[in-house]
Amino acid sequence: MYYPEEVVEEVRMKNDIVDVVSGYVHLQKKGSNHFGLCPFHNEKSPSFSVSGSKQMFYCFGCGIGGNVFTFVMEYENYSFTEAVKLLADRAGVSLPETGYSQEEKKKESRKTQLLEVNKEAAKYFYYCLRSPQGETGSQYLQKRQLNEETMKRFGLGFAPVSGNQLIKYLRSKGYRDDLIQEAGLAGFDERYGLYDKFWNRVMFPIQDINHRVIGFGGRVMGEAKPKYLNSPESLIFDKGRNLYGLNFARSSRQNNFILCEGYMDVIALHQAGFPQALASLGTAFTPGQAGLLKRYETEVLLAYDGDGAGMKAALRAISILREAGIGCKVIDMSPYKDPDEFISHQGAEVFRQRMAEAEGSFFFELRMMEKEHDFKDPESKTDFHKRLAGKLCDFEEEVERENYLQAVAEKYHISPESLRKLVISQAARSGIGPAVRPKSGMADKKRTPEENKRRNQRLLFTWMTDEPEAFPIIAKYISPEDFTDELYRQVAVRVFEKMKAGGIHHADLVSMFSEGEEHKEVAALMNERLEALDTVQEKEKALHDIILAVKNESFAYYSERMGENPQAFQQVVKVKKELEELSKTHISLYQG
Ligand code: CTP
Ligand code: MN
Repeated sequence: MYYPEEVVEEVRMKNDIVDVVSGYVHLQKKGSNHFGLCPFHNEKSPSFSVSGSKQMFYCFGCGIGGNVFTFVMEYENYSFTEAVKLLADRAGVSLPETGYSQEEKKKESRKTQLLEVNKEAAKYFYYCLRSPQGETGSQYLQKRQLNEETMKRFGLGFAPVSGNQLIKYLRSKGYRDDLIQEAGLAGFDERYGLYDKFWNRVMFPIQDINHRVIGFGGRVMGEAKPKYLNSPESLIFDKGRNLYGLNFARSSRQNNFILCEGYMDVIALHQAGFPQALASLGTAFTPGQAGLLKRYETEVLLAYDGDGAGMKAALRAISILREAGIGCKVIDMSPYKDPDEFISHQGAEVFRQRMAEAEGSFFFELRMMEKEHDFKDPESKTDFHKRLAGKLCDFEEEVERENYLQAVAEKYHISPESLRKLVISQAARSGIGPAVRPKSGMADKKRTPEENKRRNQRLLFTWMTDEPEAFPIIAKYISPEDFTDELYRQVAVRVFEKMKAGGIHHADLVSMFSEGEEHKEVAALMNERLEALDTVQEKEKALHDIILAVKNESFAYYSERMGENPQAFQQVVKVKKELEELSKTHISLYQG
């Protein structure tokens, strides 16, 4: 952590976690906690909990958790420092300058420079489009039926014909060659030196969700190849984790996203009144992009090209979306090539109609599958039925599976009974019954001895932080060295220090670590589930057992290391004495 602890604490205190998370996830109050669908894994019933009193979140499904900083880090894909900044902004706390480590500072400032040079380039292209030398570009975009307002909204521009004009311009603004090249705005040639990468193309700035220019797509104004030239990936441009148009679509308040293939499709749809349109960035749709969309809890309508390649890409996107737990439908584009052409021939209302008639992804997949089979050939037809049954096995919920089964049986004239038999035999064949497919992202329930050890240590943390009155008792037998995991030990040192000084807030403990992975682990430390213990006796017995277990593990740990480490020897002697005492003692939680 590189901001002073007090500042981080202040920022955290001024950002109530329930408030912040509610801005992203729909939460419902249940008892003392708030629950919602976890934005970080696929689930149908809420196991994502937010505690106002602890100022922490924790998902019992996938084990992710932390404080308000962790949440922002995970959700926005931010570093710790970036999360502190965002929340400081939100609460109006001003931060001191010295927020970064040397290395982080260098990286951050490189990122800032890359963003700056991109912004400057975007301004230059924008200016060129509106100057005499941008005449061809401007005519081209008019021919594509884009109006001035749309061009402005998307910041469209033009890269002039020749003469390395952009490089000259950027140099005149004081940008260095290595930066211009790293941003992908220039290439380098042994003989000619630095040259403009984009020339004689209409330019599409690619913006992240905060409207910052992270790259460009440039289109030729005719049939030459390549049709599009895109910026390479860089510190600020991750093609798999951004979407063209998401900066507008995310706040469009429509109940769906329209996922397209091309920049032009997104722009044409926005202009026609569909601000929820977006597209991947010159590559196929990725799981990272599905992760971004998942957060908005809306349906996705696919508006892919109507040709063979488009349909294949749609099938891939469907399975990626399904894996992420996002429902989707496919819009029929026929007889046009893509949404842009569709809109220009048929207009927005007919497109809206097509949206309403979009086909469920499951039926779309079946229709595509049909094409690979010849129903006149019994063998091929049987094969189709088997694949159909196989796909039905994917539905985890019986009611849903049965509903689809009925619908499919009717559609393909198969008797529901025989289809049901086929589903069962297909399920048996693949070794898994229907509805027992493990969900991705779920924590593994089977524990190894090593995991059990760590769990006992976590239980102790949860106990100490949830019931501070137990701390003095625990501290009588346990010291930070008894925690055998390196991170746990670090946390323990802090907890013991703070508890002795009067107490600690769960959420501040998390902020003491700057890595997302650490946040998750520290959160887990304070959210290990204790069995429901009703009576004081039960509690005392449980606490005794946990302390004893941790102590025994500590003893074993240091015994193993005695040969190599003289300190371990000391520790063994000490722990042995404490163990003896502990076995004679009855732990009393509520003396007096
Ligand atoms: N694409 C690319 N490089 C290419 C061709 C395509 O990066 N050589 C990417 C671009 O992101 C493009 C998308 O794939 O927007 C879809 O390609 P295509 O359908 O060919 O282009 P359109 O967006 O429809 O463009 P236009 O309507 O101008 O032909
Ligand atoms: Mn097109």
